[in-house]
Amino acid sequence: MRAIVYDRYGGVDRLRLAHVPVPTPGSTEVLIQVAATSINLSDWEGLHGSPAYARFGGLTRPHRKILGSDIAGRVVAVGADVTRWRIGDEVYGDTMPRLGGFAEYAVVPASALAEVPAGLALIEASTIPQAGAIALQAVARAKPGERMLLNGGGGGTGMFAIQLARAAGIHVTAVDNADKLAFMRELGADDVLDYRARDFTTTGPYDLIVDLVAARSVFAYRRALAPGGRYWMVGGTGRTILRVLTLGTLVGALSGRRIGVMAVRQGPEHFSPLAQRVIDGDVSVRIDRAFPLDEVAAALTHHGEGRALGKVVITPQGA
Ligand SMILES: NC(=O)c1ccc[n+]([C@@H]2O[C@H](COP(=O)([O-])OP(=O)(O)OC[C@H]3O[C@@H](n4cnc5c(N)ncnc54)[C@H](OP(=O)(O)O)[C@@H]3O)[C@@H](O)[C@H]2O)c1
Repeated sequence: MRAIVYDRYGGVDRLRLAHVPVPTPGSTEVLIQVAATSINLSDWEGLHGSPAYARFGGLTRPHRKILGSDIAGRVVAVGADVTRWRIGDEVYGDTMPRLGGFAEYAVVPASALAEVPAGLALIEASTIPQAGAIALQAVARAKPGERMLLNGGGGGTGMFAIQLARAAGIHVTAVDNADKLAFMRELGADDVLDYRARDFTTTGPYDLIVDLVAARSVFAYRRALAPGGRYWMVGGTGRTILRVLTLGTLVGALSGRRIGVMAVRQGPEHFSPLAQRVIDGDVSVRIDRAFPLDEVAAALTHHGEGRALGKVVITPQGA
């Protein structure tokens, strides 16, 4: 099969198209013919091996040679102990930490998958697992009427989180680069901030801050929180994680606030409720662009350049 592989951490020049054997599913796994794999920031992080947590399982070289975690496709083979899925089923899920979505076929644990519901296209389904699970769990931490700030709100997770928060009656301030401000307003953000022009920690105060790209000091986060407010780091620099887990916990406790890292629960029960919201018309999926398999490097560059309005998706079988 064709796959985009890499052997060393670095830029998109490390990626190459290769012909590799179709993987064989283990007894509790299924083999998927991949129709679509959406790009997440975690793919970029896995390519670069940065932040440090992206090297989990491969300190000096990537353990998994094929990136791509949010996949949708058809089941073409099942392991001996799999009873949930049959050949031909349309499924989607997050293959993290196994990865393998930037390929024509991928092996996935049967338990990581959900059935693609009627009314949802495979390409749309591929946008949901990782970003959807984060968005649902982040927004569930705010109550109606509260003020929530979403840092990095113009990306894949933000696309869902802004819409979910707005529908729940939460006041949303979304932060991203200037090219994404109109997009975030269109999704339902009440206020928007350009991170290159404004430090969000000097605004507020907020009841909930969800940070997808954390890189500031815990004192700055503390400053932006209302009494009883919560700051949750979802992604960001390795240094910031360490600070948040140590000093952040202390500063939060001493000031009547909470500052912590959000461990996102993954799996079908955590993302499939979002598919239903999409089918019901409460939440829309925005796909900025689809790229063929041999253009994964261009797709990652497009995502990384900060101009994508919505998800960027790879379609390994072609359009
Ligand atoms: N905690 C967990 O259990 C868990 C689980 C899964 C994933 N994650 C993490 O969750 C995050 C999910 O991100 P995603 O896939 O939604 O990312 P994404 O689609 O890349 O969106 C991130 C957005 O943040 C913007 N941004 C970059 N630097 C910024 C800054 N300094 N201030 C404000 N915005 C900034 C980006 O814009 P530009 O284009 O301008 O850079 C982009 O629009 C990742 O960090 C991933 O590692 C965490």
